[in-house]
Amino acid sequence: MGGGFYISKFVGVVGIVFGAGAVATVIALAVVYSQEVAKNEAVSPTNGGSTIKPPVTTPGGSTVKPQITTPVIPTTAPSNEPWDKYRLPDTLKPDHYNLTLWPRLTVNAQDLYIFTGKSYVVFQCVKETDLILIHSNKLNYTKWGDDHLAKLSALGSTPAPTIKKSWLQPTTQFLVLELNGKLAVGESYQLDTVFVGELADDLGGFYRSVYTEEGEEKVVATTQMQPTDARKAFPCFDEPAMKAIFHITLLHPPMTKCCIMILIKTSYCPVWRTSFDKTKKMSTYLLAFIVSDYDYINSTNDNLNVQIRIYARKKAIADGQGEYALSKTGPILKFFEKYYNATYPLPKSDQIALPDFNAGAMENWGLITYRETALLYDPKMSSNSNKERIATIIAHELAHMWFGNLVTLRWWNDLWLNEGFASYVEYLGANEAEPDWNIKDLIVLGDVHRVFAVDALASSHPLSSREEDIQKPEQISELFDAISYSKGASVLRMLSDFLSEEVFSTGLSVCTVYYHIINIILSNTVLQVAVNSTGTSLPTGQTVHSIMNRWVLQMGFPVVTINTTTGLINQQHFLLDPSTAGSVPPSDFKYEWIVPIRWMKTGVVQQQTWLEDKTAHKPDMIVTGNNWILANLNVSGYYRVNYDNTNWERLLGVLSSHHESIPVINRAQLVDDAFNLARAKYINTTLALRTTKYLRSEREYMPWESALDNLDFFYLMFDRSEIYGIMQTYLKYQIEPLFKHFGNITGNWTEVPTGHMDQYNQANAIRVACSTGMEECQTLTKGWYSQWMKDSANNPIHPNLRTTVYCSAIAAGGAAEWEFGWDQFKAATIAIEADKLRSALACTKQPWLLNKYLEYTLDANKIRKQDATSTIVYIASNVVGQSLAWDFMRDRWNYIFTQYGGGSFSFSNLINGVTKRFSTEFELKQLKQFQADNSEVGFGSGTLAVSQSIERTTANIKWVAENKDSVQTWFTTEVPKE
Ligand SMILES: *[C@@H]1O[C@H](CO)[C@@H](O)[C@H](O)[C@H]1NC(C)=O
Ligand SMILES: *[C@@H]1O[C@H](CO)[C@@H](O)[C@H](O)[C@H]1NC(C)=O
Ligand SMILES: *[C@@H]1O[C@H](CO)[C@@H](O)[C@H](O)[C@H]1NC(C)=O
Repeated sequence: MGGGFYISKFVGVVGIVFGAGAVATVIALAVVYSQEVAKNEAVSPTNGGSTIKPPVTTPGGSTVKPQITTPVIPTTAPSNEPWDKYRLPDTLKPDHYNLTLWPRLTVNAQDLYIFTGKSYVVFQCVKETDLILIHSNKLNYTKWGDDHLAKLSALGSTPAPTIKKSWLQPTTQFLVLELNGKLAVGESYQLDTVFVGELADDLGGFYRSVYTEEGEEKVVATTQMQPTDARKAFPCFDEPAMKAIFHITLLHPPMTKCCIMILIKTSYCPVWRTSFDKTKKMSTYLLAFIVSDYDYINSTNDNLNVQIRIYARKKAIADGQGEYALSKTGPILKFFEKYYNATYPLPKSDQIALPDFNAGAMENWGLITYRETALLYDPKMSSNSNKERIATIIAHELAHMWFGNLVTLRWWNDLWLNEGFASYVEYLGANEAEPDWNIKDLIVLGDVHRVFAVDALASSHPLSSREEDIQKPEQISELFDAISYSKGASVLRMLSDFLSEEVFSTGLSVCTVYYHIINIILSNTVLQVAVNSTGTSLPTGQTVHSIMNRWVLQMGFPVVTINTTTGLINQQHFLLDPSTAGSVPPSDFKYEWIVPIRWMKTGVVQQQTWLEDKTAHKPDMIVTGNNWILANLNVSGYYRVNYDNTNWERLLGVLSSHHESIPVINRAQLVDDAFNLARAKYINTTLALRTTKYLRSEREYMPWESALDNLDFFYLMFDRSEIYGIMQTYLKYQIEPLFKHFGNITGNWTEVPTGHMDQYNQANAIRVACSTGMEECQTLTKGWYSQWMKDSANNPIHPNLRTTVYCSAIAAGGAAEWEFGWDQFKAATIAIEADKLRSALACTKQPWLLNKYLEYTLDANKIRKQDATSTIVYIASNVVGQSLAWDFMRDRWNYIFTQYGGGSFSFSNLINGVTKRFSTEFELKQLKQFQADNSEVGFGSGTLAVSQSIERTTANIKWVAENKDSVQTWFTTEVPKE
């Protein structure tokens, strides 16, 4: 019990002396030992922390440990008390917080990194109550003189009621105060607390990130509050609608050069204490504060009047890795000012790269945090895809500065609106930064096609959830998924397309201007005003609201089938496995959508039309002879398209004779729709495979990428079977002209193609040529890699090609190639390079190396925690690593779950990634066993992923049984005879 003992003594002192001015405070904080001893020895964690004394029932088997200084009220059974609910009651409203935090950047005597804090919140009582609930998680409190965990005072003339009981409710993450009298409506009160928390390496709340610079280990104290971890940093009303003003002070060693906060003050900190200007009124989840010894670069963009800074490790700044982000932030901010028709709401825009970070980036207001790979760019090391990621993520986060931060959702159930919107406009912002890339087209591959795969499952869910269904922190975390981001983006893009971008953004700016004080949810009425005032045409009798409700309130999406002989068109809910239709939850709208259809006839664009009912007759769409119909131009609509056989044959004919008559995006669409329609049994699998035949003459990236994505599934299903060989031969034949093409236009691989997408396709050409065994390719990549091994200071491989070349050379090589790759990974000074090596190391064909690598993933000194799950997924993607990764994950589930819990994305990616190849009864049985075996530990944010995996495996088993023969026959006939 040493830890608890030590801490309670310590904070006791702080509680007394704090507030007597800066000097006194620092001294008091430095004097750690004093007299007060914890009187409360009531709790002692035993057997894994699940039972304690006095007993607490933690419904759902929470592993939250009791707090040493805190009496926990025994509850014998789950009750319906307010503190057993997850939502705050509507009785109190915070006004402002005054928070002082002191993170320790070295371990204490108990081998813990901790932070201590002192805080008060001023709140108003809006409904009479004798109960105060405020969020608090994993914090230990110092008691006040009256033996309670907090001190309550009234700011008005009537004194505050005294506290009857105070305790922590770990399951619902509340600090609870029962009062002896009522709080008065309209009166303001102040609640003071003194507490200590662990500055853990768990990537949530106030946490630590560690890196090594010039042989010295350095600690950064940083934050990730979204969605529900502000309560892990200080007690707060931790719901997005509970906006307040924050006065924040950080204590830190004088050497720490920079310490920054959400607003204004960013300074060298020669003193122990830095107080920041008060924030705007804002949500707790958007707070950020960081203590580090980083450097920064800055600029002020003309006529923007915003101080822009990029922060990173000193070495990264010295190497110029922040320059790209710095140069693009201004133009993107300016673009959004125009787009929203509202000035940037803050005087500064700080962006900081962190060595350890769970998501890609976080839109804290005015201090955006990033993974290093999402912000730092080095022309000698970074590929075009790295650059694209940086431009789009910056645009995504900057878009939130208005939409999300200034205008905030009332509750998490509408998260899709926030993230979907940012995921859509990130393409617009990035397009402003890099106008030559055609990046707006890439949303089709990056979001629309990606999320179709998830949203076509019976286990999908609607964009919008009911407020009462989203209560627990893990339910909130689970919403950060492809549906919220990518479907949200796709649906908003469709809306913007049929309204026109001008009307769409007018709607938004009205929103921004008039609603920025209150919290809103998507105000369809606002968009409707914009529509009415511009005369945009919607189907008669429909409003923006009635159209969008279909897409937002019901899950899934339609397949629109066009019969070009009869002119009949119809829609149907598209399910990858139609036999799961029965398990789809009912919808008020009967799975019918109001579908905007852009289309062309034999290459000529026609007037947009609507499908409002299940079926419709469109005589315009009847064609004969060589004419053909193509619908969903540029895939601006969120749906798939199927045709009668005759039209499919005509489209295949166009592809093979003059594919340029079909827009590039739609060539990618035809491939993707065909493969998925075949999966769902609308068309034959061989028809889908035939869409890949024309690829020998295709040079564009999007159709190729779409085909390779879809063939990936065939590889997953068949790379352990005899079909593998003929597939390889077919694809090698198909890729050959593309490989030669890039050899030619790059002066035999010495230059870089000019186009952004051409650069991607060059990497595809090499990847596929090498992996299908083309000797010329393998010689090329092995040559580059061994040249590098001979002279590691001079890497001859272009950054665009590194991921591919490393992978192919490590796959072809043995321990020497792998160990060299590992050494380079450890030595990499830029995360972007390390990431390429990290994925390539999973390409080896040696099981013992893969097993060793798997072990490394759970050793944070070898693989950072933030990268553990994706590394395991890389290994599982390798046919040799698949079963190793699955065994590993099952074996260690308990450990992984407790160590890596709380993250937003990791678990679902891990479970989906490791099981994606599953296609046998045996694997299904194992998966179900895994689900049963761990029902006690649970799956956290991966709960949905487990059921999705079971569904996917079941569908795969059926698919393989039904298609194996025809696929084998098709490839056999298509393979060129030598
Ligand atoms: C915050 O509280 C401290 C004392 O606890 C006080 O010195 C400081 O002035 C307060 N700041 C504001 C902005 O009220
Ligand atoms: C809080 O109290 C618990 C229970 O005694 C203890 O295990 C934990 O280390 C304490 N946390 C901190 C940060 O001191
Ligand atoms: C960059 O920051 C420094 C120090 O705060 C300041 O003096 C300088 O004016 C800033 N430069 C620009 C271009 O904003």
